Amino acid sequence: MISVEARSGRYEVHCRWGALDELGGLLRGAGIVSADAVVVTDDVVGPLCAARAVSALARAGFEARVHTVAAGESSKGLRTVEAAYDRLLSWRAERTTPLIALGGGVVGDLAGFVAATYLRGVPFVQAPTSLLAMVDASIGGKVGIDHARGKNLIGAFYPPALVVQDTSLVASLPPRALREGFAEVIKHGLILDPPMLDVLERDAGRLLAVDPERTTEIVARNAALKAHVVSADEREGGRRIILNYGHTIGHAIEAVTGYGAIRHGEAISAGMMAAAAIGERIGVTPPSVAERQRSLFERYGLPLRHPGLDADAVCEAIAFDKKVSGKRVRWILLEAPGHPVVRDDVPPELVRDVVRAVVAA
Ligand SMILES: NC(=O)c1ccc[n+]([C@@H]2O[C@H](COP(=O)([O-])OP(=O)(O)OC[C@H]3O[C@@H](n4cnc5c(N)ncnc54)[C@H](O)[C@@H]3O)[C@@H](O)[C@H]2O)c1
Ligand SMILES: [Zn+2]
Repeated sequence: MISVEARSGRYEVHCRWGALDELGGLLRGAGIVSADAVVVTDDVVGPLCAARAVSALARAGFEARVHTVAAGESSKGLRTVEAAYDRLLSWRAERTTPLIALGGGVVGDLAGFVAATYLRGVPFVQAPTSLLAMVDASIGGKVGIDHARGKNLIGAFYPPALVVQDTSLVASLPPRALREGFAEVIKHGLILDPPMLDVLERDAGRLLAVDPERTTEIVARNAALKAHVVSADEREGGRRIILNYGHTIGHAIEAVTGYGAIRHGEAISAGMMAAAAIGERIGVTPPSVAERQRSLFERYGLPLRHPGLDADAVCEAIAFDKKVSGKRVRWILLEAPGHPVVRDDVPPELVRDVVRAVVAA
């Protein structure tokens, strides 16, 4: 059993092949008593599994309604939030009505933000359907939406009451979405769990083919890793920052390409290669570590570079991020697998050099 400690209390993560069919019973087990429930999903995931969620809820005595948004990042905005409030009000959803996010990270972030604010907060349940959402977005309590000026600028910490991960859903992910989820998995191995890197090397074929047993094991292992880090540091005052390995340059690459052309996982695999290059240049990261992560990314079909981008724009995006956070850029670098260090003294010229190498045509 995986559990997460949040300021607002503890919540459990259930990770099983087929867990969606237990959804209703799991909600009751988490102390949710209402007679109704609302499932929020998107128009790709909904047709695949919303009916299963609704019948699982019905078996536990919930009358569930489904609110569907358009798939994709553009649904993480105020207009979609407002439409959801309208829908909840017209359905007379109450303070006790749980909101269940059934989808990838977009649905989780959006539904969580709605759950945090509708009637000053209703019970929230994460039922992630993408690999990325299972191993990352559904755990930790960050919810939110985008602003024209940047991603995830509006939001809250609003931990779920429960997380239900049905690993069988990974099987219907398009190959690119599956592969990008492995970028976060490999990241977890690099910063937190070196023995898992051996597993990822050994079982790559079965994991990419979504073997039920191997997939469930790896998702549960990663959910537990993330749960452990965020339990110790919910508000990102300390150790949680190591989860940002590869994300400084990764986020900048996403920002300059307008969020979409390059997916998050694809941006951070190149970002981790850049972090390794920075680490090598300042004598923190041994070349063998960079080489090992390179071969893992290659095995999982993840890009090492993004040729053709404007290096100056990428560096400006890094600077913009820093301005928003009001802090120096803090680089997460690897001394060895399982040994991340935080450095805020990396010379900007060195960063620029490395960025040029990552985006050069
Ligand atoms: N809150 C957090 O801590 C956190 C962490 C990481 C990422 N995020 C957010 O998560 C979002 C990215 O998440 P994502 O990669 O899951 O994107 P997503 O929600 O857009 O899902 C990717 C695509 O896969 C489809 N999909 C999802 N599950 C499927 C399934 N089982 N079968 C077939 N298709 C399926 C979706 O409809 C979508 O088209 C971003 O908005 C990011 O900011 C949040
Ligand atoms: Zn990430």
